[in-house]
Amino acid sequence: MERAFITYTEKVLEYFKNPINVGEMKDADAVATAGNVACGDMMRMYIKVEKNRIKDAKFLSYGCAANIAAGSAITELAKGKTIEEAEKITMRDVIKHLGGLPHLKMHCGVLAANALKKVIKEYKKKQASSKKRKSKS
Ligand code: FES
Repeated sequence: MERAFITYTEKVLEYFKNPINVGEMKDADAVATAGNVACGDMMRMYIKVEKNRIKDAKFLSYGCAANIAAGSAITELAKGKTIEEAEKITMRDVIKHLGGLPHLKMHCGVLAANALKKVIKEYKKKQASSKKRKSKS
């Protein structure tokens, strides 16, 4: 049986060898984990928000090389953005930032984009419930 080899761009390989924004964030304002049904891998994402702007973003990947690269890319894209701007970041932006992803690895970029969407949703949920608590007191 013939095996198919996956070819990554220079940027993907660079982020895989030297990932950025990797690790836990102890004082995160929100944390969320996203899973990918296509491969069963996961990504956990953390954000720190100041004045509605993502001051810091980190991730932990339980996935492949493409996922580690996508996590680096999306956290880099999200940092410095307002919550509203970061919400608009899509898997297409991740793929563009990486100079492309092999067709077989597109879902790894989707996982990173979903992790960001989920952590923002979690942040907004926390904000809404803290507002509610404040208005009651
Ligand atoms: Fe699962 Fe890449 S194969 S995240």
